[in-house]
Amino acid sequence: MSLELTGVTVEFGSADARTTVLDATFGPGRMTALVGPSGSGKSTLLAVAGALLRPTAGQVLLDGEDLAGLSDAQRARARRERIGYMFQSGNLLSGLTAVDQLLAAVYIGGRRPRTHRTRAEEALTRVGLGHRLRHRPEQLSGGERQRVALARALFLSPKLLLIDEPTAAVDRSQAGELAALLAGRTRQDDCVTVVATHDPAVAEAADRVVDMAELAADATRTAPPGR
Ligand SMILES: Nc1ncnc2c1ncn2[C@@H]1O[C@H](COP(=O)(O)OP(=O)(O)O)[C@@H](O)[C@H]1O
Ligand SMILES: [Mg+2]
Repeated sequence: MSLELTGVTVEFGSADARTTVLDATFGPGRMTALVGPSGSGKSTLLAVAGALLRPTAGQVLLDGEDLAGLSDAQRARARRERIGYMFQSGNLLSGLTAVDQLLAAVYIGGRRPRTHRTRAEEALTRVGLGHRLRHRPEQLSGGERQRVALARALFLSPKLLLIDEPTAAVDRSQAGELAALLAGRTRQDDCVTVVATHDPAVAEAADRVVDMAELAADATRTAPPGR
């Protein structure tokens, strides 16, 4: 798995609300911590890399293939089968138990969840939620919801992990454990892992720290004049 962004620009409505990233390459078996102040474009970069948002310009190459060339159905399939995504807000499905949050993608993919149920319970236990398997989002704390969302992102062993602020609502010792879990999975499965974070514990566990400001500064130097 490899992920490469070249000349990616995202405009929201007007040209002055834009995020530009040039030549960001993320290799396998490496966890990158994406740092930078709020509003610097970390979540936007992840959304573009995760085929959730089409960039206004530029290329997003997944294993050398430009996501822009894919149909919506192909993009949905890439998200389901190759990409593990954790939203900053968690984005759990209301009304489903923690176990079913993980199994939802199995159902959608047309597979039978029976053999996956035990694995889902193990995955939740690994993030410290063995005692919350049947709880619904409404019954979980913010930190617990984040851990369900992280377990879900990792669940079907995707090779591209895009993780947005995974430790924002957990305590310090849990943050260290979650960071170690992500780093361990990255090495074990040779994943490309990009984690947007403010957390020194995550940055410390990462193989590389990339500051959004550096990427944006590069982009400003080389971008064509404003339109
Ligand atoms: N849906 C949207 N509509 C308009 N502007 C947006 C939208 N999403 C993000 N932005 C803008 O894009 C910039 C980067 O946001 P974001 O990627 O969320 O930053 P970060 O994750 O680093 O806090 C911000 O200026 C934000 O206001
Ligand atoms: Mg963000």
